[in-house]
Amino acid sequence: MASLITLKLFSILLLCKLSFSTTETTSTFMHHDCTSKPKFSPKSAYQLNLNNMLSELTSQAFDSTNQYGFYQATGSGTNERDTVYGLFMCNGYIEKCGECVNTSVHTLKSKCVLNKEAVIWTHECMVRYSNRFFFTTLEEWPSWCVQNNEDYQGHLESFNNVLSSLMDDLLTEASEAPMSYNKFAVKNATVSEGKDLTGFAQCIPNLSKDNCKKCLRDAMDFLQTCAKGKIGGRVLHPSCIVSYDPLFFQLPRGKRKNLATLASIICFHALVPVIILVYGCYVLCRESSGGNLKDKKRNCGKDITTEMKSLQFDLRTIQEATNKFSDDNKIGEGGFGAVYKGMFSNGFEIAVKRLKKDSSQGATEFKKEVLLISKLQHRNLVSLLGFCMEKNEKILVYEFVHNKSLDYYLFSPGNHRKLSWPERYRIIRGIARGILYLHEDSHLNLIHCDLKPSNILLDSKMSARISDFGLARIISIDQMQGNTSIISGTYGYMSPEYAMLGQFSVKSDVFSFGVIILEIISGKRNVNCSGVDFDDLLSHAWKKWKESKPLELLDPTLEHPFSEKEIRRCIQIALLCVQGNPDQRPMMATIALYFNCDPVVDLLPLPQEPAFFMCGKSEIKDG
Ligand SMILES: *[C@@H]1O[C@H](CO)[C@@H](O)[C@H](O)[C@H]1NC(C)=O
Ligand SMILES: *[C@@H]1O[C@H](CO)[C@@H](O)[C@H](O)[C@H]1NC(C)=O
Ligand SMILES: *[C@@H]1O[C@H](CO)[C@@H](O)[C@H](O)[C@H]1NC(C)=O
Ligand SMILES: *[C@@H]1O[C@H](CO)[C@@H](O)[C@H](O)[C@H]1NC(C)=O
Ligand SMILES: *[C@@H]1O[C@H](CO)[C@@H](O)[C@H](O)[C@H]1NC(C)=O
Ligand SMILES: *[C@@H]1O[C@H](CO)[C@@H](O)[C@H](O)[C@H]1NC(C)=O
Repeated sequence: MASLITLKLFSILLLCKLSFSTTETTSTFMHHDCTSKPKFSPKSAYQLNLNNMLSELTSQAFDSTNQYGFYQATGSGTNERDTVYGLFMCNGYIEKCGECVNTSVHTLKSKCVLNKEAVIWTHECMVRYSNRFFFTTLEEWPSWCVQNNEDYQGHLESFNNVLSSLMDDLLTEASEAPMSYNKFAVKNATVSEGKDLTGFAQCIPNLSKDNCKKCLRDAMDFLQTCAKGKIGGRVLHPSCIVSYDPLFFQLPRGKRKNLATLASIICFHALVPVIILVYGCYVLCRESSGGNLKDKKRNCGKDITTEMKSLQFDLRTIQEATNKFSDDNKIGEGGFGAVYKGMFSNGFEIAVKRLKKDSSQGATEFKKEVLLISKLQHRNLVSLLGFCMEKNEKILVYEFVHNKSLDYYLFSPGNHRKLSWPERYRIIRGIARGILYLHEDSHLNLIHCDLKPSNILLDSKMSARISDFGLARIISIDQMQGNTSIISGTYGYMSPEYAMLGQFSVKSDVFSFGVIILEIISGKRNVNCSGVDFDDLLSHAWKKWKESKPLELLDPTLEHPFSEKEIRRCIQIALLCVQGNPDQRPMMATIALYFNCDPVVDLLPLPQEPAFFMCGKSEIKDG
């Protein structure tokens, strides 16, 4: 990093391209960078991943349930080489987030065609993508300084003092924001009567506290040089942003406000040798941290016993929270034990899974698995908060998910609310994202093995949350090495190779996912052994598909409006997932692409005949 300091020392703006663009409104302030970046070829897997990732970003930015004002996405196909990472973050002004991200994405698409990496900053948001995993890395290049043309009229020293302390406050506040929160700070300060400044600082969300501090500190140092004596300025780094603007003073042309008056954009090029130095360093850093980042994260983690302690709950606390495991608190009973709702004295709600006493796992292994599983965090997964192991009890503590499970809405009798098609479609896509994360995006590459509607919980926004993942690992890892002798899945959702031969792979989860899609669409269980005229859902779906009448599968209680196109696509994806031959079933990453793929270039292959199920046992029929 020594070269970065050198870079700062060399902030003699050599080779500077000064482009003056008078911007009238805040929303037209925009600066992007994608020059000298590696290129990808058109219509490549990278492009497909990029487009999907960008549309995910846009839809997240418009999603009113995303309260954080940022989002990170990974677009990965079957080939890891073509993975693209992207994020947007809004400058705290969340109302305009969707528009800003949408415009920025469109600009990048037109200005940075075929660039593997690009970044754009506007007044309200930043959008960035790369083929490198950059969510946690500190990057201060390219660096841009934008300054207000107006000089401060007054006592410059006191102005600078106020500005410095404003910057210090911003640095502290923005870098203190907890992990996974929008790391930004806005603060006002008074220079003298009627002369107020507003300051802003922001880091990319997953930057560590120290890296955030360093990024902001460097940006602030640069800002104080490049906007010296000006009433406003802004420094843009890929990892952080710092700015200050005048409030209500010396506005040259009435309607102009804060950054709107910024007129000059300075391209910051330092001496050529410095660039080489910096690039050399970046290449080195990337090589040392990029490839085996996962291992590194594992090894450089906090002391394992400290981490373990933070996950451990007292038995007494759990007993109090659940009324001593009273029947009134019981909300479910699964193969591994009963589930209770609990509430801590501070009102925090939890779900407690009290494991059956006969679980064979040793204490150390159990804790180690809990630690690993608790690190899986995704908005479509139920978080494991910790465990309790005392007096012969083994207990897992989960976040409480409010709106019951999917099977309640799909199958339970009674006149409860039915799910609308848009809700069902969102749930299907949520499940897909959750499984994709388990399979590929998390460091564990976990196979769920028991996906079914009763394991899909619905949160207060009716988003899908997968539960019980990793449970087989927590309870006994022996089962999880290749072929299993103990089948822990559920008939109806198990792939034939798993049910009959005990072989499982990510494709077993894909199979279960296909069954769940069909159940969500039809509102019927795959295997209904109570019917006399037994016809399982898969063969029924296949028959309708062959007759080109897939919409006849639809749950009759489903009300308009619904999109026939979406429904057809879901049925086709489901049938691809339940094909008898696991090699023919798509990977979750491919499925994610299918959900997003451009309707003009439809990628969806035609499914082969599915595997058929009988009650209680299964058989594979030749397709
Ligand atoms: C997103 O931006 C494009 C191009 O600027 C525009 O045509 C489209 O209407 C925008 N979408 C929304 C939802 O605002
Ligand atoms: C990054 O932030 C997201 C929230 O967007 C969080 O779920 C995730 O665990 C974080 N990842 C890392 C590596 O810190
Ligand atoms: C800063 O001042 C502006 C204008 O008075 C006000 O709208 C804004 O809420 C203030 N921000 C903070 C963080 O105090
Ligand atoms: C889901 O939960 C939220 C908050 O608990 C509640 O307002 C909403 O009515 C619930 N929806 C259903 C369908 O139960
Ligand atoms: C699993 O079983 C199959 C067929 O019985 C066998 O070919 C394969 O080698 C086994 N795999 C492992 C990891 O034991
Ligand atoms: C199972 O089949 C019976 C008889 O055909 C039918 O009444 C029932 O609704 C079916 N249940 C489900 C969940 O599809």
